[in-house]
Amino acid sequence: MLDKVKELIGDVSAFNATTKDEIEAFRIKFLSKKGILNDLFAEFKNVAPAERKEFGQVLNTLKNAAQDKVNQLKDALENASEQKGIYGDLTRPEEPIELGSRHPISIVRNKIIDVFSRIGFTVSEGPEIEDDWHNFTALNLPEYHPARDMQDTFFIETNPDILLRTHTSSVQVRYMENHKPPIRTISPGRVFRNEDISARAHCIFHQVEGLYIDTDVSFADLKQTLLYFTKEMFGKSKIRLRPSYFPFTEPSAEVDIYWGLETETDYKITKGTGWLEIMGCGMVDPNVLKNANIDPEIYSGYAFGMGIERIAMLLYQIPDIRMFYENDVRFLEQFKSVI
Ligand code: PHE
Repeated sequence: MLDKVKELIGDVSAFNATTKDEIEAFRIKFLSKKGILNDLFAEFKNVAPAERKEFGQVLNTLKNAAQDKVNQLKDALENASEQKGIYGDLTRPEEPIELGSRHPISIVRNKIIDVFSRIGFTVSEGPEIEDDWHNFTALNLPEYHPARDMQDTFFIETNPDILLRTHTSSVQVRYMENHKPPIRTISPGRVFRNEDISARAHCIFHQVEGLYIDTDVSFADLKQTLLYFTKEMFGKSKIRLRPSYFPFTEPSAEVDIYWGLETETDYKITKGTGWLEIMGCGMVDPNVLKNANIDPEIYSGYAFGMGIERIAMLLYQIPDIRMFYENDVRFLEQFKSVI
């Protein structure tokens, strides 16, 4: 009997298991109510009194060995699953890579640049902090000219000559000062006006303005260029030019495109007329050419300017201009599929 127990001690110490079930089976086999140890303790009364002491000791050794074995194997199993926790399931599919998206303002600006670069326009840029000359005076808007009120301006308090540009026409003045005709350039950029922020207006927004100067440039050239642009940009081929006023162009016009009245949204955005105003334009005033040292007797030109936000709002049916500046990812994510 004693030998049998000693053999069992050897079995227990040699035992190994890697799964929960195997460990549990081992525990039941040795340590449960109907397990080997209980049976052996029941044998106690049959053992000769002289041998009882030793038998008891050996039984206890077996019991402790079995209990230690169970604990040790359980610990090992837990450690192993913690290890796995660090690396996770190495066979799982990989996490999808989150792709960013371009901002809708950039998308539309790039589209506009694309359309005009196909007909020979280059891109020009200039400073956002401007002087009075480039933003106003050179553009036929001398000091105290009432039309300065058309564009509420942020001035630098200590120096009334310095301001945040109210339009990118300032870039065109700089371009004319530094380039000889023929000139074909568009100026995309950020502009600033001291306006109350609402769903329709913001104090910071973006423009693209265009300038074309050469010999014999006519109003018909302007109209054809605008027609080409609206076809490429919106897929619409009907425009109208309404007489308007800008100090730097003469004659001047607002450009409306015929958007149509096919859907309820069309009714809403065109206020039931089918027409949408998208930009201002005109023939460059001779005074502006003179201010930039271009001879108006030889050269003539046209100019136009549009707001990028307004066009993006039309193209993507964005109801509130403030959404462009909030950087809410739920908004930005919607432009993932657009390049
Ligand atoms: N600069 C004008 C504006 O910001 C737009 C414009 C540009 C109009 C060129 C006519 C010609 O409102």
